[in-house]
Amino acid sequence: MEFAKNNDLFSQNINQSEVFPVSFKELEKEAKESMAAGAFGYVQSGAGGEETLQRNIASFSKYAIVPRFLKDVSTLDTSITLFGRTYPYPLLIAPVGMQKIAHVDGEIATAKAAAAIGIPFIQSTVSSYSIEEIAEATADSPKWFQLYWSSTDEEISYSMVKRAEEAGYEAIVLTVDTVVIGWREEDVRNQYSPLKQGFGKANYETDPVFMSSIPMNDFDSVIQGILDNIQHPALNWEKVAELKKRTSLPILLKGILHPEDAKLAVANGIDGIIVSNHGGRQLDGVIASIDALPAIVEAVEGKMPILFDSGIRRGSDIVKAIALGADAVLIGRPFMYGLAVGGQKGVEKVLENMLQEMKVSISLAGVTKLKDLRNLIIKNPHSVF
Ligand code: FNR
Repeated sequence: MEFAKNNDLFSQNINQSEVFPVSFKELEKEAKESMAAGAFGYVQSGAGGEETLQRNIASFSKYAIVPRFLKDVSTLDTSITLFGRTYPYPLLIAPVGMQKIAHVDGEIATAKAAAAIGIPFIQSTVSSYSIEEIAEATADSPKWFQLYWSSTDEEISYSMVKRAEEAGYEAIVLTVDTVVIGWREEDVRNQYSPLKQGFGKANYETDPVFMSSIPMNDFDSVIQGILDNIQHPALNWEKVAELKKRTSLPILLKGILHPEDAKLAVANGIDGIIVSNHGGRQLDGVIASIDALPAIVEAVEGKMPILFDSGIRRGSDIVKAIALGADAVLIGRPFMYGLAVGGQKGVEKVLENMLQEMKVSISLAGVTKLKDLRNLIIKNPHSVF
């Protein structure tokens, strides 16, 4: 892995031919203008009273970086290695379903943007394009598959995992926090369901096991089949163990918030976890993801990689999450807004700006390697929390 010379940090991305929203707030505002009201509400909102959605953001300010100086930061190594593959940055594209609600190119645009930067794209089960379509559009760039457990027939899950393996995907992310869909008032208010409109059916209508499980091969039967299938309250550790036996790919559990669940993941031979509260879209009132991280890092004792999401809005947030023990982070809404505003180029711009701020922040913290960030954070004594 080549170390980046730090000289380019001074350019601040100001030689841009066109103006693209810089801050998350500006980006969100432009995305709102580009999207239909129901679609924007679906992406932006959180569950219940949005206590967790707000806490995810606010809690980052509880942690303060204490920089070191005079350390020679003229070269910077931001690379990470996960499951044997090295990536240039500790950043991944979170699985976000139904991306056609933001842009007609949907996941194809996002996956190409991730490929251009060299970071993993995690594809949702309920994506607008199928596993095979995305694989074809992006050749051998790193891709992982997020699985929503299939409640009507587990063979549908295994079939999708097999397809992901055959298409060259490199890990399976089993989301565990969505046993039932969260209570989302904005969607009730807007009477908006992208699933019912067919935005999330690509992997189902191309799956032979799913298609043979529904009575007829038409739009209504496919959608009803997905609706019957998608919530999976019976998911448990035994089924996870069975999934582990059925694939040779590494398995990560996404949605872990309790240190005891992290320990169980280690005990069950799971390959990694993603500390996440689903961006505040599932159980409202839960702990901010960043507040859950330190105890989980302690519980895991370095036995598997710990990824993090929910609330990353800028490069310095990435620095804080890594300083608190995450190996890498995922982003959801920021890239979705980039997609809505500018398709593939929009996603690339969001990633570039975030990574540039991350590099500047690491350098200004006096660090040249990610692992050296570990000792540089304190709980902010002036916090209002
Ligand atoms: C999501 N998320 C999600 N997670 C998952 O495992 N499968 C999915 O299909 C989806 N779909 C989805 C749709 C939309 C519109 C959003 C905003 C999020 C959750 C996602 O992977 C991630 O956990 C959060 O987005 C992280 O929080 P931030 O970055 O949005 O704050």
